[in-house]
Amino acid sequence: MREKRKREHVENYLRTTYKGATLLENVFLEHNALPDLNFEDIDTKTFFLGKIVDYPIIINAMTGGSDFSWEINRDLSLIAKEFNIPMAVGSQTIALCDDEECKSSFKIVRQTMGDNGTVIANLNAQAAIEDVKKALDMIEADAIQLHLNPAQEVVMLEGDRHFRGILDNIGNIVEKVGKPVIVKEVGFGISKEVATKLYNVGVRNIDISGYGGTNFIEIENIRYNNIDFSDLYSWGIPTALALIKCRELPKELNLIASGGIRDSMDIVKSLVIGGNMVGISGEILSYLLHGGYENARNYLEVTIHKMKILMLLLGKKNIEELRATDYKIMGDLKDLINNS
Ligand code: FNR
Repeated sequence: MREKRKREHVENYLRTTYKGATLLENVFLEHNALPDLNFEDIDTKTFFLGKIVDYPIIINAMTGGSDFSWEINRDLSLIAKEFNIPMAVGSQTIALCDDEECKSSFKIVRQTMGDNGTVIANLNAQAAIEDVKKALDMIEADAIQLHLNPAQEVVMLEGDRHFRGILDNIGNIVEKVGKPVIVKEVGFGISKEVATKLYNVGVRNIDISGYGGTNFIEIENIRYNNIDFSDLYSWGIPTALALIKCRELPKELNLIASGGIRDSMDIVKSLVIGGNMVGISGEILSYLLHGGYENARNYLEVTIHKMKILMLLLGKKNIEELRATDYKIMGDLKDLINNS
């Protein structure tokens, strides 16, 4: 059942058509006509989970658990290795049993990326501490992502309906697991209020995974036709809003900007308004499934090249300087920030 669902998530993702807005288009960055930099001076390296990565980009959680996802994870991890960027696997709940074949679709990521690669495990935030340890061990992960996905669960016919006690569970995991914990959404965003609660139980890495990209209400809606959920497609906190609001929390909180990150402009704006890193899921998956490994690899290469062009045009020679860039907000984003 779970294996079938995993495959359907990938297939139905490709069938989605609804386009939400991240509101990153409401962020304005000023052109610098006197950058005082050479293109080759631009340094995109950054520090993440105790390792140096070449670019502030994560291939974010998607899949695992079948032959089909073995291939996806193999291809994506080859790309992550080549560019020396982190990669997260999809939810490992399916692999907590003793099925070695199922586990191999996750293990392939560590095998491909080697000891120096940054590999991130993934489970839902209700997971027991023993399972979190198993998920980490399975792929010798550098960190665990715990996902929060109430919107997805409640529209899923076989989804979970129990959401009490999750914050305490997260606090317990943070205290006992001995590895960095990243709490993430799956495309509906994390508010400042939720981020504050997470911060107060010890969480220091939040992936805001906001609205404007992959839409799990639509993905689930394609799987069923007994109820039409299309009137809920506009639900969620746009990525830009979630980021700016969560950035009001202390600096020790690392923010991963994800949800609708598609191109170099999205990446640069997300880093400027508060992201320590950005995460890409749907867009790279789309390139992979439509044109294969080379297509996905080229997408990332071109995106990185354009990201460096934008850094030059802002006169910022490294990621630290980029994060300190001034910006202006306009339109709906400005209204929402002013009303919050
Ligand atoms: C996801 N995502 C996801 N997240 C997670 O924590 N565990 C998971 O197993 C999955 N599975 C999954 C499958 C597919 C096919 C997609 C496209 C996405 C959510 C993902 O990590 C991310 O938070 C959202 O997709 C938003 O980012 P994008 O896709 O808009 O870049």
